[in-house]
Amino acid sequence: MITINEHYLKLQKSYLFSDIAKRVRAFQKKNPDVNLIKLGIGDVTRGLPGVSIDAFHKAVDEMAEDTTFRGYGPEQGYEFLREAIAVNDFRSRGADISAEEIFVSDGAKCDTGNIQELFTNDIKIAIPDPSYPSYLDTNVMAGRTGDFTDGRYKGVVYLDGVKENGFVPSLPEEHVDLIYLCFPNNPTGSTITREELKAWVDYAKDNKALILFDAAYEAFICDNSLPKSIYEIEGAKEVAIEFRSFSKSAGFTGTRCAYTVVPKECAGYDSNGKKQLIHSLWNRRHCTKFNGVSYPVQRAAEAIYSDSGKAQTKNLVDYYMKNAALVCTTMSKLGYDYVGGKNSPYIWVNGETDSWDFFDMLLNKAGVVCTPGAGFGRCGNGYIRISAFNSYENVKIAMSRLTETLSR
Ligand code: MLT
Repeated sequence: MITINEHYLKLQKSYLFSDIAKRVRAFQKKNPDVNLIKLGIGDVTRGLPGVSIDAFHKAVDEMAEDTTFRGYGPEQGYEFLREAIAVNDFRSRGADISAEEIFVSDGAKCDTGNIQELFTNDIKIAIPDPSYPSYLDTNVMAGRTGDFTDGRYKGVVYLDGVKENGFVPSLPEEHVDLIYLCFPNNPTGSTITREELKAWVDYAKDNKALILFDAAYEAFICDNSLPKSIYEIEGAKEVAIEFRSFSKSAGFTGTRCAYTVVPKECAGYDSNGKKQLIHSLWNRRHCTKFNGVSYPVQRAAEAIYSDSGKAQTKNLVDYYMKNAALVCTTMSKLGYDYVGGKNSPYIWVNGETDSWDFFDMLLNKAGVVCTPGAGFGRCGNGYIRISAFNSYENVKIAMSRLTETLSR
């Protein structure tokens, strides 16, 4: 008899973004004439930077010739990309990260989901509420939680992100071993200061804990006093793993390329309390379960680090941030309380009503898709998330529809 992993039965019926897509499909089927504007899932809408397209074409041509063809590449990523990442994303900001500490992958979702398998099931995990759903779901699948009651899984330490703390969770009152942090935050768009981040690094050091720092939205930080990487904080290399993505910064959601940084000194402990380096464990896992990102995609990613690549990706980010500013202005005019939208493409709006009701109202009355905050955790109820990823023209239409629907 084939028995199943029953931890899967504890999961909520479907993954948040699949659930929303299903509701949107059903609405569109019933209302084929409504021109829906999607500001829900953070999926980019603009074409890839020209430098990436050129590099992509060139690499595809190389694949056509026996002399330049490439088969399996290094599982960790080609040296040309890893070096460009280390120099441009870290060393340029004073974070001493080397190419060997970078693991190129096909997505931060997979990496943030897979990393937990390096750790035992009896560790205490701390997960922000609200947060990107896959942090929690992958721990549920692994059996690291109890059942779901009252909107929460037993055995998890939830780090509340609420208005009172500016959506930056406070340190846990009890001991935890594995901490998920995401800044600029998905879904709230809040950011963390150096001092606040240092407090987390110090906590991790004092508690022999590990921080999983999701920095997928760092490109949207406009305020240069804010940290883009956790490694800008002294001592973080011993206690933190960082996740980054080309999805939002360079439009790679469909092209797939991301990376994870595991510093050489980052450590966990075995059952005898002996230090074990996480780098070698993750490397072992990566080589066993992953065969690398395709060569043309890695060339396309490398291209964004050229001078023109940097200018083109900045244009992309500026474009979406102009959308975010328009959403913020509209929400202010309508008298809604919100955060985000300044150093983040997400705007977290207090709808002062059940999130799913608000979502349904915007879908049915305004033809605008957002993301209900409750889908990110119990603290998200009452909120909706509006994404700035769409064309400026569409965001303008969406905002005027919202103005009509929500004027009060
Ligand atoms: C989001 O909308 O939260 C993200 O875009 C989804 C993802 O990156 O998987």
